[in-house]
Amino acid sequence: MNKPKVVVTRRWPTAVEARLKELYDVTLNESDVPLTADELKRALQTADALLPTVTDPITADILRVPNRKARIIGNFGVGYNNIDIAAAKEQGLVVTNTPGVLTDCTADIAMLLLLMSARRASEGDRLVRSGQWTGWGPTHLLGQKVTGKTLGLIGFGRIAQATAKRAHHGFGMRILFYTPRNAPSQEILDDVKAIRCATIEELLGEADFVSLHCPGSAENRHLIDEARLKRMRPNAHLINTARGDVVDNQALCKALKERWIAGAGLDVYEGEPAVYPGFLELDNMALLPHLGSATEETRVAMGNRVLENIERFFAGQEPRDRVA
Ligand code: DGY
Repeated sequence: MNKPKVVVTRRWPTAVEARLKELYDVTLNESDVPLTADELKRALQTADALLPTVTDPITADILRVPNRKARIIGNFGVGYNNIDIAAAKEQGLVVTNTPGVLTDCTADIAMLLLLMSARRASEGDRLVRSGQWTGWGPTHLLGQKVTGKTLGLIGFGRIAQATAKRAHHGFGMRILFYTPRNAPSQEILDDVKAIRCATIEELLGEADFVSLHCPGSAENRHLIDEARLKRMRPNAHLINTARGDVVDNQALCKALKERWIAGAGLDVYEGEPAVYPGFLELDNMALLPHLGSATEETRVAMGNRVLENIERFFAGQEPRDRVA
């Protein structure tokens, strides 16, 4: 029997690419240069499965390509806001993602940014590298204590819960959360003594650190805008490991420049890899290049999860992580 034909849009960890080669008639992307819209359309016309990732915009125009052959899109990533899900459904395409396997590493990055922002780590690193550090001083680069402070989580899914565990059990932090969805089980809430806020505004008024964990979607675009940044405490820090477009860049820049808030730590950016130019001039920002899931272990697990999804699909079973 012919092996299904599969197109992968970026480099994947070697072990997963080797497995793909064994199981499928696979086209890998050894150059790692993202595919153009025309190349993505061609892939949908020639392969049985397209395996894109969070940096590939899979638009309605691409999904509506005539003479499409592909029946499944196995996204390498838990977020799938790169795919027009309504258009995929309209086209009868199955779409899967990779939940669960990147929870710990993304929560680690949220804590890393929280600590970097509170303790002015990026500023300190730049100072040492520039040769301008003149030595220890009682009032030099004073940041804010993290232990015992209040962490407010907007969105309370898997990654937010893992961040809450680290913050509560590791740093004795008080945990607040806001979610428009159903709260998780009482057992999960009790473990970190999480308190639910009725509104985002209530959470912003109380938290020393605000960490974003809501999906990137039209509904959440600029959820953190000028009015909400003004509701935060002057000593507070904003952490974003979710999606860049959840925050209004211009408003955040103003908030940091005019010190409505103390600092921010970002791993994701609206329109990344472009970074809002104003951010680069601010000392009170810690900026990482979308490292949330970037560990050997997690990227291999993400690839294996895509494999599991398409294997089930080609075996005529329901894929585990179907989102469309
Ligand atoms: C995802 O999977 O959505 C992450 O942003 C990748 O790190």
